Amino acid sequence: MTGSIEHGPGRQPASQDQSRQAQRQWWDAEADAYQAEHGDFLGPDRFIWGPEGLDEATAAVLGPVAGLAGAAVLEVGAGAAQCARWLAAQGAHPVAVDLSAAQLRHATRLNETSGTAVPLVQADACALPFRSRSFDLACSAYGAVPFVTDVTVLHQEVARVLRPGGRWAFSVTHPVRWAFPDVPGPEGLTATHSYFDRTPYVETDETGTITYVEHHRTVGDQVRSLTAAGFCVVDVVEPQWPTTNRQVWAGWSPLRGALLPGTAIYVAELAGPPV
Ligand SMILES: C[S@@+](CC[C@H](N)C(=O)[O-])C[C@H]1O[C@@H](n2cnc3c(N)ncnc32)[C@H](O)[C@@H]1O
Repeated sequence: MTGSIEHGPGRQPASQDQSRQAQRQWWDAEADAYQAEHGDFLGPDRFIWGPEGLDEATAAVLGPVAGLAGAAVLEVGAGAAQCARWLAAQGAHPVAVDLSAAQLRHATRLNETSGTAVPLVQADACALPFRSRSFDLACSAYGAVPFVTDVTVLHQEVARVLRPGGRWAFSVTHPVRWAFPDVPGPEGLTATHSYFDRTPYVETDETGTITYVEHHRTVGDQVRSLTAAGFCVVDVVEPQWPTTNRQVWAGWSPLRGALLPGTAIYVAELAGPPV
């Protein structure tokens, strides 16, 4: 079941077109600030799944690191393509896709300065400009998935470009957090909103035009969307906040991280080829 129980401040419906338009404009406007604030933490060529700092080099969510050599990997909502660059360093053949030209300009900058260049493509994750069955793996660290209205369309598009047996792993804000104010301090520890309210979080300008949108799916919603697209969910990774991580990243903080999950990484696979 989807649908809202009420429209509170900051929550209102947003169509696919409104979401796409808002994302492109928001990330084009905010890319410089985002990379200036988080670029050091993300590094030019690390694969970090979220603010907790879970690193693919040790987490192996995509499978054993040694198995990445030669794999064709799609990074969706890649931003500056840090994850794709790490994958390339493991011998994989990544392609980094993002909707925002400004984010991709940062990817080009890091391609030029890091010593590892990866192919970059500007495209909507819901309309991928690739042939069917052209990738072995697909991944996304907080890219695209929370920002589209109909996530089943996105999952179907990823399923289309993956080969049989392909793995799709993506991180999003942990759904439980939608019940709490998105602030790093103590006020972020008291539930004030229904977990079951799927009305998107929306920011608007003075004309009422939507300038930012994020869509909430419960765990069950996400699993049903993946299943509808032909995937089987094989894991949901919930990284713990390490006590050594003292950073505050928007509503993520050591205080909240000690008590609440911050990130969910869904790991799903297509059925393999018949034996
Ligand atoms: C939170 S950033 C994450 C970027 C990068 N993975 C990182 O960890 O820094 C979200 C990214 O998703 C991109 N994005 C949003 N909607 C998208 C869509 N429909 N298709 C492709 N990319 C999208 C944005 O442009 C932005 O670069």
